[in-house]
Amino acid sequence: MKPPSDLKHLLLHFTGARSWREGPITLFTKGEGCYLWDDSGKRYLDALAGLFVVQIGHGRADIAKEMGRQAEQLAYIPSWSATNPVAVEAARLISDLAPADLDAVFFVSSGSEAVESAIKFARQYHTARGNPGRTKVISRINSYHGTTMGALSATGLEDIRAPFLPLLPGFSKVPNTLGYTDGAACARLVEEEILRQGPDQVGMVIAEPVQNGGGAIVPPDGYWPELRRICDRYGVLLAADEVINAFGRLGTWFGSELVGAEPDLITFAKGATSGYAPIGGMLVRRPLVDRVLDSPAAGFIHGATWGGHPVVMAASVANLTAMQDEKVVENVARYGDTLRASLHDLREAHDVVMDMRGTGYFYALALGHSRRAGRNYTDEESTRMVKEILPRLALEARLHLRVDDRGGAKIMISPPLIAGPEELDDMVERISRVLDKVAAAGKMEEAR
Ligand SMILES: Cc1ncc(COP(=O)(O)O)c(C=O)c1O
Repeated sequence: MKPPSDLKHLLLHFTGARSWREGPITLFTKGEGCYLWDDSGKRYLDALAGLFVVQIGHGRADIAKEMGRQAEQLAYIPSWSATNPVAVEAARLISDLAPADLDAVFFVSSGSEAVESAIKFARQYHTARGNPGRTKVISRINSYHGTTMGALSATGLEDIRAPFLPLLPGFSKVPNTLGYTDGAACARLVEEEILRQGPDQVGMVIAEPVQNGGGAIVPPDGYWPELRRICDRYGVLLAADEVINAFGRLGTWFGSELVGAEPDLITFAKGATSGYAPIGGMLVRRPLVDRVLDSPAAGFIHGATWGGHPVVMAASVANLTAMQDEKVVENVARYGDTLRASLHDLREAHDVVMDMRGTGYFYALALGHSRRAGRNYTDEESTRMVKEILPRLALEARLHLRVDDRGGAKIMISPPLIAGPEELDDMVERISRVLDKVAAAGKMEEAR
């Protein structure tokens, strides 16, 4: 364990005071492929792709080289009035990969900023159409859309919203699709909310194709097509938040393709550079862009210093080109069923796995005392599992993974998309070791 004094100047994100002050906080120093090394040389399997980010794997010298070359040639120029050739190329690549006529890209530096940009674009679009009153946004319970005040207003996780209330007015939440088998019926909850909020006041519905918060929630068939019909019926924009889903995580370039979504806007981030540089962005349908550009405002009144940063764009072009050349998304489609079958076996072998859900290289294992007896953890037990026990067990198994308590204790599984049978087997074997100990830890919790 590192002495806390090592860390006193560095405030960590979403990290409890106790782990920050008392540790252990792992210091990762190296990455290669699906593996990470800490400062004492221990090797870990990265079962989270950093944080749903490192699609192409760690340690790619070719991407670093392209970034270095760009930094030497031109490290910085803004995207205000001028731009640079790599930004043009990155936008072309991303819009070529995107579904339908989503072919205009607005670059920022994070997923939160991407969501913020979508919220602002929707407002300007409706104003351009003479409907400035359409400012309300509908999103879903347990969703995560980011931490800036607009994105946090769309976020549906009460515990991370609570310290910052009141958030922006006009943001309401509907149930996500967990537990629903009838996609159209579940989508109609959104329609009811539009009617409740006033159809002439709602500007945008935002949702992830497969929702992370609550644990890799795959929508039932028909959900997204029905959302499209509903949004069209009331003149509301439909945004797919693909900060996690995009760039192959689900076995398709964009999650929208998988679930039959036809959004007006797509927000993306993480996988666009596989983490070699911070990125975020928004894809917009061409007719919507034209509306805003041709309005009296004569442009999208939004921007940031780092949007379209040349070195970031070089990372994105190198990453996406390599992903295409090396058929990384096809790799997910190829081995996705193997991963699903292994996780299914894991569920059968471990009674503490209450549910296994997800798709592609994106899964959640929901944990509890006993699936067969239908006994979940209490809220208190769940919190202790997530905050203390599971992180310790993961560390012991040399696994970098995410444990999540949004709607019960869960292990999230999201390996780099280059993982093949060997790495997937290694990952499942390590998770199995963790689950063996989870059962024992659960019994001790009950005896407390
Ligand atoms: C769906 C979704 N939207 C937005 C965000 C916010 O992204 P960032 O952390 O880059 O601000 C995240 C982050 O994980 C996310 O999962």
